[in-house]
Amino acid sequence: MVGRATTGLGAISRGPSYFPPVPPPPDTPPVDLLSGITPALEPDFRLDNLVALSRERALYRAWDRRLRRNVALRVHLIPDSPGRAWFARENETLAALDHPVLRHVYAAGEVGPFAYRTTNWVDGESLDGAMRRGPRPIPSVMSMVRDLLAALEHAHTHAIILRRIVPTTVILELSGRGVITDLRYANWCLAHVPSDDPAQATPFAAPEVRAGEPGDPSSDVYTVAAIVYYALTAKEPGLADIVAPRTLRPAIPAAVEQVLMRALRPVPKERYLTATEMLEDFVADAGTFHEPAVSPTTSEKGFERRLRRALGDDYEVLKEIGAGGFGRVYRVRDLGLEREVALKVLHPSLTADPGVMERFRREAQLAARLRHPNIVNIYDIQSRAGLQWYVMELVPGENLAQLVQRDGAFPVPRTMRLLFEALGALEHAHARGLVHRDIKPENMLLEPNGLLRITDFGLALALRGDRFGGASSRSGTPQFAAPEQLLGERVDQRADLYSLGAVAYFALLARPPFEGATPEAILAKQTTDALPSIRESRGDVPQDLEAALRKAVSSEPAERYQTAAAFREALDYATGGVLKKMLHMLRVS
Ligand SMILES: Nc1ncnc2c1ncn2[C@@H]1O[C@H](COP(=O)(O)OP(=O)(O)O)[C@@H](O)[C@H]1O
Ligand SMILES: [Mg+2]
Repeated sequence: MVGRATTGLGAISRGPSYFPPVPPPPDTPPVDLLSGITPALEPDFRLDNLVALSRERALYRAWDRRLRRNVALRVHLIPDSPGRAWFARENETLAALDHPVLRHVYAAGEVGPFAYRTTNWVDGESLDGAMRRGPRPIPSVMSMVRDLLAALEHAHTHAIILRRIVPTTVILELSGRGVITDLRYANWCLAHVPSDDPAQATPFAAPEVRAGEPGDPSSDVYTVAAIVYYALTAKEPGLADIVAPRTLRPAIPAAVEQVLMRALRPVPKERYLTATEMLEDFVADAGTFHEPAVSPTTSEKGFERRLRRALGDDYEVLKEIGAGGFGRVYRVRDLGLEREVALKVLHPSLTADPGVMERFRREAQLAARLRHPNIVNIYDIQSRAGLQWYVMELVPGENLAQLVQRDGAFPVPRTMRLLFEALGALEHAHARGLVHRDIKPENMLLEPNGLLRITDFGLALALRGDRFGGASSRSGTPQFAAPEQLLGERVDQRADLYSLGAVAYFALLARPPFEGATPEAILAKQTTDALPSIRESRGDVPQDLEAALRKAVSSEPAERYQTAAAFREALDYATGGVLKKMLHMLRVS
């Protein structure tokens, strides 16, 4: 296949089939025996191709003429041999089980010197083959774990211990499901396995199985964990000390590592005793492993568990970043892309209203179209299990409110940079018909190098509507909202410019310009223009700058800057030198 790259493992792919195109192994059967197969089986099967061959066995992809379907046709060549009895016992073992993750046997028979069985033809490649391209994507391994453990549980209820699953015999179907194809070493077949069979010594088998013991369900727990370990890290688990998988691939969820390390304990009693036990731990609240000393209230924990379940294999919750009026923001790991992102999950009570949800999606679509260095990118929006979330770029650093609280008011140049960057972002959004509606210090994220990233574009409209206040208010104290927002009137871009002006006051004074416990109290101050003086406490703020900010927070929209560009020009002027001001006046006149 073209484009099938060699991998970090340095191996060359052998192609898409899980059975490599075989150069005949040294121990091939006698040619006359082999040539007898076709005439013996042809009446019932069309032998399409030989996919594997050993001294005693051949495997064909064949067409079952009667049932008119593709089958895997396994032929045993040597009559009256120990291997023949083994083959028959393997048939019985396969036949005892009926699970989608286990290859199932259709028919078994003897013809001439041959014994054969047909099983479902599994389309795909072996795990081993897939690994040649490198470790498997984490989400697909997560679903493989569930598949394999479910199959184990099925086998165990039929008193079958698989004992050993190796990467060459797990086939990954095109759908991504893993199928166990080989039960030759199961406990039912153990009497037929030669004691010196080297295949038992694999690192994928539990120590007791390597020692030739029949094993128990916890041995299968080990072998599945070993397979998963390999799929995630491209390293076989060591025979003695097992390296923690996250040291090999840091993006592996911490909870998965915990489960694997327990399942790979050398002492059977210290592992999970059943596949179900392991499965439960695997799918359950991964967070219990990192429970903080002081745990949050049960309802919060319950919520986080619900979120973890809803996020499934797509995201691992790492840490809560903060909570706002509409939901919570978490630092999570995108397990597909193996990078950290921010995820905002909406308060479940919001999700109950389909109208709100539809508006939310529409606004998110609009916001996702914004492309600007000072705007946080939205990556994805999803809902599952009654929860709605969206995923965005994770901004390192703190928000403006946190910074001011920690370090106090901003110096003038830093405030100017913030304003210019914010205006650039707003100009971009406004030109596309999107009004932020919730410009406030908490939504102004600042990277360590000082770069501003504005988050939550358009969400306020979706979730709150234009109204603040009232019993349904979810937005905290609206210190930075324009008066028309507080009054529930229609807002346009001028509301954003107002809020940005208020944010500038906050940056310079370390408090909002209009304070009040309720929207009404704030509104009263806004409409009487009861603005604090900046220069009273900050002599370093130029007079023209204070004048420019005053204009920005005029209660009457018509008296404010009408566009972001106009606001920026005013700031340019306010902070420019004498020469710049003269040029400005020349241009204006
Ligand atoms: N993309 C992001 N990257 C990093 N932190 C973020 C991101 N989005 C939001 N936050 C932080 O998460 C916290 C909670 O955000 P949110 O739920 O919007 O509430 P609010 O904005 O009202 O504080 C805020 O402190 C904000 O700084
Ligand atoms: Mg926010």
